Amino acid sequence: MTAFPHRPGFGTLLASHMASATFQNGRWGESEVLPVAPVSMSPAAHVLHYASSCFEGFKAFRRADGSIHMFRMDRHIERMRQSARQLVLPEPDAEQLAAMVRAVVERCRGEVPEAPGALYLRPILFGTTANIGAAATPASEASLLVLASPVWDYFSGGMKPLRILIDDENTRSAAQMGMVKTGGNYAAAMGPTLRARAQYQVDQVLFCPGGQVQETGAANFLLFRDGEILTRNLDSTFLHGVTRDSLLTLGADLGYRVSERAFDVGEMLEWVTSGEAALSGTAAVLAGVGTLVFRGTEHRVAQGDVGPITRRLRAQLVAVQQGEAPDIHGWLQRL
Ligand SMILES: Cc1ncc(COP(=O)(O)O)c(C=O)c1O
Repeated sequence: MTAFPHRPGFGTLLASHMASATFQNGRWGESEVLPVAPVSMSPAAHVLHYASSCFEGFKAFRRADGSIHMFRMDRHIERMRQSARQLVLPEPDAEQLAAMVRAVVERCRGEVPEAPGALYLRPILFGTTANIGAAATPASEASLLVLASPVWDYFSGGMKPLRILIDDENTRSAAQMGMVKTGGNYAAAMGPTLRARAQYQVDQVLFCPGGQVQETGAANFLLFRDGEILTRNLDSTFLHGVTRDSLLTLGADLGYRVSERAFDVGEMLEWVTSGEAALSGTAAVLAGVGTLVFRGTEHRVAQGDVGPITRRLRAQLVAVQQGEAPDIHGWLQRL
């Protein structure tokens, strides 16, 4: 197995191989695994002008016995197909994409870090049709790649509570695009997030358009209090996180009452006087929030530390992912 004496930042190191398939003449061609190399395409490629692209992100875990297990790959593939449909891109075939992921992990088996590291898998799909007059014409040709990246625990230095700005003026994405994992949404969140970092020294922005709590630039948002988990109900305005779904399921297993409904900034600020707040996503798993900043005023979340429910749910999910707790929901797929 490859040794990683210096742990690079999340996503900065690519594994040696990727999988590739192209869509032409109305069908997906055979996929292949090849060494990671620059991608060649026309400067008129649809994606470069009209942002026809979407992606996914999920993890494969190595156990002490050397076996490798992928976490909820099927859900991520389904979300990618849904993103492709919404963007009018050729939809990847679920079985072909799953086979591409397995082939990459197999080829990069020696590059999967030990726990608490993982191999992060990043399928990307983009329109390659060469036509700079296609603002209202979908791409008829596309590329599908599967990249892999060895990653480590976000919290190897200890769990530091996050500082979050509540933004009730900007939106993270167009309303119909929130549930689509497409680059444009991250581009839209970038400006507000960088301005918030500079002005308020926050880690992230929680977008709350019209005062309704939604999500941050790259994670879902959850509240915990008195045996209850509160998070926004699913609609088209935000990304339906697989981690969110997993935590709600494990939370219900542990006896928490799960409430999925709309709530506003006022209710959230009242809730955090004694409750907990956290961000969920594949990369960070569940990251506790210590401070919310709203209209220039700081609101401490309970004691300002990562709370006990956050720690418990995070530990439970990590235990399932790493094979230390039973996988009763069938979320792991052994390679
Ligand atoms: C905007 C956004 N919301 C939520 C999430 C969390 O999704 P998941 O738990 O499926 O990683 C992510 C990360 O992928 C994201 O980019």
